Amino acid sequence: VEHLLGIKYLNANDIDLIFKTADHFKEVINRPIKKVPSLRDITIANLFFENSTRTKLSFELAEKRLSADVINFSAGQSSVKKGETLIDTVNNILSMKVDIVVMRHGSVGAGVFLSNHVDAKIINAGDGTHEHPTQALLDSYSIREKLGSVKGKKIVIIGDILHSRVALSNIYALQLQGAQVKVCGPTTLIPKYITSLGVEVETNLKKALEWCDVANVLRVQHERMDIKYFPSTREYTQLFGINQEILNNLGKKIVIMHPGPINRGVEITSDVADSDQSIILSQVENGVAVRMAVIYLLAQQIKR
Ligand code: CP
Repeated sequence: VEHLLGIKYLNANDIDLIFKTADHFKEVINRPIKKVPSLRDITIANLFFENSTRTKLSFELAEKRLSADVINFSAGQSSVKKGETLIDTVNNILSMKVDIVVMRHGSVGAGVFLSNHVDAKIINAGDGTHEHPTQALLDSYSIREKLGSVKGKKIVIIGDILHSRVALSNIYALQLQGAQVKVCGPTTLIPKYITSLGVEVETNLKKALEWCDVANVLRVQHERMDIKYFPSTREYTQLFGINQEILNNLGKKIVIMHPGPINRGVEITSDVADSDQSIILSQVENGVAVRMAVIYLLAQQIKR
């Protein structure tokens, strides 16, 4: 593939290659000298039109660990505020000899749009409610690390599926690798099309947790929703919040994941998020190696 615009453009072999490459980079970043010189002739621009902590810092670190030159752009402090368009913004940045653009944007399809209009490799770091491919890759990589493989595993994605780019990218990635996927949450936060993707819906949290090997717990995205379609925070926590008591009653130890940022005490309690069942910080750690792999593989296609 020419860009990383979404998991839906990848196949199982692409994911396997990314993971094998990430295995190598994970070993590199655990050495005393955490860098390789591979991309010292490559320049990468990180364009963030939406807020981010993990994805922005993880991409920047991945790029620096590969020895690329890096420039960072946050829309809120830029000339976008003076009315400059997305394409003008990007073309101005590219004229400074930039090879790869990593972009987070609030609009669905922003990465695809950009890839059709500018001459650079594009990596989607989250486009509205659509896809967040590197998050799904690092999530699957973390399941593979914890459980040995993704194939045959039962994964439930819990929460605000409707507004979640993490959910859609995870569904595509997990299914490509042979996992079974269910979603669980309030019916108002589960899109109607989800069953057409081969995903089962379970609205009973206890049943969903009894079924699964892994629960990927999502944040309720208040910023993307019309409040009248949504249960109150208290109702949500009562029906879908994960706490230690629920997990203790399962009679088995499931793996708990969360892409962050966490609303502690809403979708997950602190004791669960910080427990030894949780791999939340391993997900963040693995994000650097996985993003190094994605960037490295795309950069091999650039004529130098
Ligand atoms: N998981 C994730 O995308 O987090 P950020 O919004 O902080 O980048």
